[in-house]
Amino acid sequence: MTKAVVLGAAGGIGQPLSLLLKANPLISELALFDIVNTPGVAVDLSHISTPAKVEGYLPPNDGLKKALTGADIVLIPAGIPRKPGMFRDDLFKINAGIVRDLAVGIATTAPKAFVLVISNPVNSTAPIVAEVFKKHGVFDPKRIFGVTTLDVVRASTFVSEIIGDLSLAPSIVVPVIGGHSGVTIIPLFSQSSHPLPSSLSSEDREKLTYRVQFGGDEIVKAKDGAGSATLSMAYAGSEFASKLLRAVKGEKGIVAPSYVHLTADKEGGEVVKKEIGRDLEYFSVPIELGPEGVVKINAIGKVTEYEQGLIAAALPDLATNIEKGVTFIDSSK
Ligand code: NAD
Ligand code: LMR
Repeated sequence: MTKAVVLGAAGGIGQPLSLLLKANPLISELALFDIVNTPGVAVDLSHISTPAKVEGYLPPNDGLKKALTGADIVLIPAGIPRKPGMFRDDLFKINAGIVRDLAVGIATTAPKAFVLVISNPVNSTAPIVAEVFKKHGVFDPKRIFGVTTLDVVRASTFVSEIIGDLSLAPSIVVPVIGGHSGVTIIPLFSQSSHPLPSSLSSEDREKLTYRVQFGGDEIVKAKDGAGSATLSMAYAGSEFASKLLRAVKGEKGIVAPSYVHLTADKEGGEVVKKEIGRDLEYFSVPIELGPEGVVKINAIGKVTEYEQGLIAAALPDLATNIEKGVTFIDSSK
């Protein structure tokens, strides 16, 4: 029996993500929480002929607590999205408080649940969840994930587009490390499972790297004020959740990048810190998943000089973003 909970379930990401989770045969119960509209979304999904029992909750009458009771996995896409001209960090002002309050709910009602943080800025919101859990004495770094899967999905898609064969996209693996905003997103095309990126000119490789780093902007621009990635994010969030649930069920060798606290695997985390040359608390790296969440943080391994430069360029922003999230909780109520 697996209960999944979506916080922010009536939103642009929340609805299609809930649909994909409802279609996941590993999920037997699905709770949808939002400040609006979840009863309707839940009844709609409940007509789908898959095993998960769906319930919708709103804040009155302890709705958050009821939604979270018995949760095994909680996905958080609650919060405002970007408009053209905004950076993800501009969302901090509003989303930090939303994520903090939801994290308090999880820490007090479902402290053992896996928490997948989607709300931006992920570089700061994942630390916010972790700090709330620390305050409540329930922090387990193996169970809190900043979701960076959309960057991984984009890298595979964009390489397959250059090859001219989208049917290859699902099988192309490109590790994407660092964080989830602008230059903190570091695709390692030299480690691509498909050889195409290694044959690109340095100019084309830079264009491809830029496209993954700023792929979110393409969607924000195209939506022209109506928000940011929702459908592709729902796909990415569902993919990561599905990998985690398969690993929890005992499937071995499942590896996916995610933004985690580097003590989730102390030994592996120390190796990564040495590789990046900085004592950061959080970094997105390919991690091996298992029944307790993070089993192993994989080393970054061999990178090119160009990629080494990308890592160096990401570190100052990442350090600032992490500090901002940690300080927010240190200084709040
Ligand atoms: P949206 O505005 O369509 O939906 C957000 C939902 O959150 C709304 O339904 C809103 O009612 C709900 N909400 C607000 N406050 C809440 C609270 N206190 N409790 C519960 N629900 C609450 O936005 P969206 O397009 O779905 O994006 C949501 C977030 O996800 C944004 O911050 C966006 O930047 C982020 N995002 C992250 C990634 C990623 O790769 N990690 C990708 C895309 C978007
Ligand atoms: C993305 O990468 O698409 C998301 O983080 C949303 C955004 O603000 O770009």
